[in-house]
Amino acid sequence: MTTRFDLAFIGLGVMGFPMAGHLAAAGHRVTVYNRTGARADAWVAKHGGARAPTPAAAASGKALVFVCVGNDDDLRSVVLGQQGALAGMSKGSLLVDHTTASAIVAREVSAAARERGLEFLDAPVSGGQAGAENGKLTVMVGGDQGPFDRAKPVIDCYARACMLMGPVGAGQLTKMVNQICIAGLVQGLAEGLNFAQRAGLDGKKVVEVISKGAAQSWQMDNRANTMLDGKFEFGFAVNWMRKDLRISLEEARQNGARLPVAALVDQFYAQVQARGGGRWDTSSLMQLLAND
Ligand SMILES: NC(=O)c1ccc[n+]([C@@H]2O[C@H](COP(=O)([O-])OP(=O)(O)OC[C@H]3O[C@@H](n4cnc5c(N)ncnc54)[C@H](OP(=O)(O)O)[C@@H]3O)[C@@H](O)[C@H]2O)c1
Repeated sequence: MTTRFDLAFIGLGVMGFPMAGHLAAAGHRVTVYNRTGARADAWVAKHGGARAPTPAAAASGKALVFVCVGNDDDLRSVVLGQQGALAGMSKGSLLVDHTTASAIVAREVSAAARERGLEFLDAPVSGGQAGAENGKLTVMVGGDQGPFDRAKPVIDCYARACMLMGPVGAGQLTKMVNQICIAGLVQGLAEGLNFAQRAGLDGKKVVEVISKGAAQSWQMDNRANTMLDGKFEFGFAVNWMRKDLRISLEEARQNGARLPVAALVDQFYAQVQARGGGRWDTSSLMQLLAND
C-alpha cells in the first residue's frame, strides 16, 4: 500500500483543484493554499483537509509540497520570499512544481531549494482539465532519481504516465516539445477542416473516415467536431499556449533549434487574442480561417 503523507498543494486553479482532490481521495492529509481564499474554502468544503493563509504556512512540516500556478513569476511569488513555500519547508523535504514554466526558473528554484537543504522536481503536465479531473495526466519530470522515486507513487494519484526525463529543467524542456508538436498540428487540422467545409463536404463524415487513417491525432479525436461546430469556449486557453510558445521560442534561441511553424502559429494565436479569444481553446485557430 502507498504511504500516506502530510502534503501541501499550492494553486487550486483549473488543474490544481482536481489534482489536489485526487491526493485527498487517496488518503493523504492535504493542506491547501490559494491566493483567492474562496477557492481554498471551496476545496476544503469538497475534500476535507486544511487551508493555510500563506504558501509558507501550507508547506510547514510537510514531506512533499506541490505547486501548480500560472507562469515563471507566479511560481517565484509562491515559492521564494518570506511567505513562500521554501521558507516553510524543513530540510530533506521535496517541492514538486507542476506549473508549465521555463527551464530557467526551474533551475533557479532548484538552486534556492538546494541552499536550504531541500529537493526540487520540475514536473509540468499534459492532458488538460479532463486529464486532471479523471486523474489521467502525463507528467514530465526533471530532477534526481531519489526525489523522483519518492514523489512518483504520490503523483500516480493523478497520472497515467510519469517519467523522469533528466536533470532539473528536463521536465519543462519535454513539455516545450509537447507544445511545439501540438501547435503545427492544430493549424493543420484547422486548415483541413476549413477546406472540407469550403469544398462542400460533410466535415463530421470526413473526420469519421480520416480519423481511422494516418491523419488521426488526439486533436482530431477530441477537437475536430467542436471545431466544425465553431465551439471554442472551453479547454486549453490560447493565453496559456502563447505563454508556452514564448518559453519554447526563447529556449530555441539558446539551443539553435529552428521553429518556423511554431513561430507562425504563435502569431495566429496573437490574432485570436486580438479577437477577444484569449480564453478560448487552442483549436480556435479554426475561427481565423472561417471568418477571413
Ligand atoms: N488548463 C489546462 O488545460 C492546462 C493543461 C496543461 C498545463 N497547464 C498549465 O498548468 C498551470 C496552471 O493552469 P490552470 O489552468 O490551472 O490555471 P488557472 O486556472 O488560471 O489557475 C492558476 C492558479 O495559480 C494561482 N496563481 C496565479 N498567479 C499567482 C500568483 N502570482 N500568486 C499566487 N497564486 C497565483 C491562481 O490563484 P487565483 O485562484 O488566486 O487566481 C490559481 O490557483 C499553467 O502553467 C498552465 O500552463 C494547464
